[in-house]
Amino acid sequence: MNLPLEYKDQLEFLLDGYSLKELKSIASLIMVNYKNGSGKGNDLINSSLASKVYAVYRLPATFSAFGDALEHTFELYKENIDSVIDVGAGSGSASLAVHHLLPSVKNYTLLERNKFMMEIGKTLHNFNYINYDLSKDNLDINGDLVISSYVLNELDQNSRINAINKMWNMTNKLMVIVEPGTPEGFQLIREIRDYLISIGGYIVSPCPHMNICLNTWCHFSTRVSRSKLHKDIKGGDAPYEDEKYSYIAFSKSEVIPCKNRILRHPQINPGFVELEVCTKDGFKKIKYSKKDKELFKKARKSDAGGQI
Ligand SMILES: C[S@@+](CC[C@H](N)C(=O)[O-])C[C@H]1O[C@@H](n2cnc3c(N)ncnc32)[C@H](O)[C@@H]1O
Repeated sequence: MNLPLEYKDQLEFLLDGYSLKELKSIASLIMVNYKNGSGKGNDLINSSLASKVYAVYRLPATFSAFGDALEHTFELYKENIDSVIDVGAGSGSASLAVHHLLPSVKNYTLLERNKFMMEIGKTLHNFNYINYDLSKDNLDINGDLVISSYVLNELDQNSRINAINKMWNMTNKLMVIVEPGTPEGFQLIREIRDYLISIGGYIVSPCPHMNICLNTWCHFSTRVSRSKLHKDIKGGDAPYEDEKYSYIAFSKSEVIPCKNRILRHPQINPGFVELEVCTKDGFKKIKYSKKDKELFKKARKSDAGGQI
């Protein structure tokens, strides 16, 4: 799901008037902070300008990844959603993705501890922020949909299960968590999966089953187009980049899971299509040929991350 043009324009406007040299040096500093400080519970964005550069650098990618995870989840989840709580909301990209997909939802609460991230979010949208530290604070609120996007990997290992418990307690209906599509990001998603199954949650997406997961690195990818400013700050001239993400969506009530989840891009050959899928019996390669009629047509049009 690509970031709508109106937000792209707003992002570009944020950095008007700053020199490219200054923006590049802030971007390198942010990358160093993320490389060395993530997973330790540290604040990684430490100035107003850093939050703006971070938004230009990362918001289109996190919007797309969260949007794709949501789309796959809502192919299976059909209950009505009235309210959203976005934990570690940052500039609000995950809430913007919900808003884009479910425009009838009006009630958003964004929980964030970093004042610079809140500040930048308030210039981009009208959602309500509460200053909240997921590792320390308790808050008595509930929402139909609780989301977190690229947050839990920033917490130190010991705070994570406590954080998941807090988020699950806030959840009336559905919780969707997206993390980076690295082996470590997937490992975290798998730990969350195991824990939520153990306390009675029901998987909606992406898994077709609630048995032990034997996948070593379940991740998906979304293609994000790059603005000129993004290329100038980050370097390189590729017109797009592929953002890898892992995710899990859990419901409080039982949901019919997907049949097979497509894990890789389909191999389309003359007369047949090969798909690598996760099934209720684990990982499989499935071949659909013309004699499979509708399934063959569906497989030809399918994409990684979808279901069949
Ligand atoms: C990588 S950013 C992601 C922001 C946003 N969710 C997105 O997808 O674009 C992580 C965010 O989590 C916030 N965060 C990290 N630890 C937190 C905590 N303990 N409590 C609340 N927010 C936290 C950070 O301040 C930052 O805004």
